[in-house]
Amino acid sequence: MTQDQAKELVGRRAAQQVEDGMRVGLGTGSTATMFIKALGERVREGLRIRCVASSDASHRLGQSLGMEMLTLQDLPELDLYIDGADEVGPGLALIKGGGGALLREKIVASAARRFVVVVDSSKVVPVLGRFPLPVEVIKMALPLVESKLNRLGLAPRLRRHPDGSVYLTDENNYILDCACGSIPDPEHTAAVIRSLVGVVEHGLFLKMASAALVAGDQGVSELQA
Ligand code: 5RP
Repeated sequence: MTQDQAKELVGRRAAQQVEDGMRVGLGTGSTATMFIKALGERVREGLRIRCVASSDASHRLGQSLGMEMLTLQDLPELDLYIDGADEVGPGLALIKGGGGALLREKIVASAARRFVVVVDSSKVVPVLGRFPLPVEVIKMALPLVESKLNRLGLAPRLRRHPDGSVYLTDENNYILDCACGSIPDPEHTAAVIRSLVGVVEHGLFLKMASAALVAGDQGVSELQA
């Protein structure tokens, strides 16, 4: 099975977890997109749900599929949030933000009673950190935060688009991708990064996920928190 096939399989499986009347958070990224498209099919067939997206892109996708797209202002509590991840470690600790939506993703995830992660099996790791950890930073604070992260040995790198222009999040902030290599104590790393003034959010999602659906050659398996 290719990675794209695994993403589609797990996206479809996640869409089956959505029940009529639910308030659903929509994630961001290629796996979340598979989920949203599969959910859109169910909406076309008559499923009635209300949704909040974790990015402008997913909001527009939901709208284009005829889904009722609202904001946290309208729906401050959600029944279920479904999103991808860049890495899934022990205890369902996650690295997220490869797609740049970590801040809104964390906000929408925190509004949900249940957060189900959808990944292909290549994302499940024994120790987090091989994937660069995204840190969202207020523009003005960039030089300060960058040098502090450097001093911590986290090798931050300002995220850019392929054409060289600087990447901006939906909230108009910068992202520093930190080449941690290994994050043996995610709680400690999260606390250290969070303590830096100017950091808006980081991509460590700890004790947030309720379950993970993992697609591989054997089909879809479920990991519980
Ligand atoms: C976006 C994210 C994504 O969920 C994460 O990057 C995984 O993306 P994909 O499903 O495309 O591999 O956190 O900010």
